[in-house]
Amino acid sequence: MKILAFESTCDETAVSVVEDGRTVLSDIIASQAQMHALYGGVVPEIASRHHVEVISQLTEQALQEANCTRADIDAVAVAYAPGLIGAVLVAVSFAKSMAYGLGVPLIPVHHIRGHVAANYIAFPELKPPFLALAISGGNTMLIDVADYTDLTVLGATRDDAAGECFDKAARVLGLPYPGGKPMEDLALKSEGGVYKFPHAKVTDCPLDFSFSGLKTSVVNLAHNAKQSGAALDEPALARDFTQAISNELVPRAMEAARKTGRTVIVAAGGVAANAIIRGDLEKSCEKAGYTLYLPPLKSCGDHGAMIGAQGFYEYLAGNVADMTLNGFATMDV
Ligand code: KG4
Repeated sequence: MKILAFESTCDETAVSVVEDGRTVLSDIIASQAQMHALYGGVVPEIASRHHVEVISQLTEQALQEANCTRADIDAVAVAYAPGLIGAVLVAVSFAKSMAYGLGVPLIPVHHIRGHVAANYIAFPELKPPFLALAISGGNTMLIDVADYTDLTVLGATRDDAAGECFDKAARVLGLPYPGGKPMEDLALKSEGGVYKFPHAKVTDCPLDFSFSGLKTSVVNLAHNAKQSGAALDEPALARDFTQAISNELVPRAMEAARKTGRTVIVAAGGVAANAIIRGDLEKSCEKAGYTLYLPPLKSCGDHGAMIGAQGFYEYLAGNVADMTLNGFATMDV
């Protein structure tokens, strides 16, 4: 079954053709990151407008690269939530028109389910059940994946997402947007151990996260240093900050696995590309005897194939939409 998949929830316009959920025939991504870097973050209206401009051309490219004509497409999948609503609606409208024109089923896919499904492409042997740690620019959650379409959120951030925190920290250090990768490069130049960051606990919900204290703390450290003229050891700051984020993520993932009895842990989302967090996950999983799946770096960020992969399983579960399908800024997994 060949699925034409669309993703435009943030600043990547992505179109892909995926066969039977696991084989990527094409995966075309147009990133707007450079455009938004000028403003230090994503400007929603600019994002939507750019999606509108490029989505048709990307679709042609995705079909060509997959060696497909429109007649070969069996279904259309689209990331319909969560995301910047103006941006989400571009792919939703386009996908609806495609499905309508081709007379094929329309499959709505939750963006975070897509991030998790990126691992099905990378690891053909991977099957639920497992525990997923989904860490991206807009979301941070621990998810029990009992089956391909049976997902339960065990813990989520109460405020900022981990990626948002990296972006903010990078900004105060004068690094470009998106800040995760530049922060990682800086952090890897130091052993750290210089700066202390707060550790957050959410009373009665030990698997929930809170990153706002960490974010404020890094902003204050940078501003205070600037005002007082004190030298800031930027690599050490990046290292200690990254370690603080990892210390929020990894122990909670281990605790969630212990509580649920899952022995397979899967990482997903843009922040899962971080070398320090990956290393900590590896060490902790090895110690606990868990099997760990870390997506290849290129599959961590937003792309269309992840929507096509999850779309296949949504279709098998009967989750298809009619022509009233809408997009949503927020939605439970
Ligand atoms: O999953 P993603 O591409 O988009 C969303 O669905 O949000 O994640 C983007 C986020 C950004 O905040 C970016 O700074 C962060 O992932 N990111 C990283 C790294 N690469 C990307 N964060 C930490 N370390 C990285 N190497």
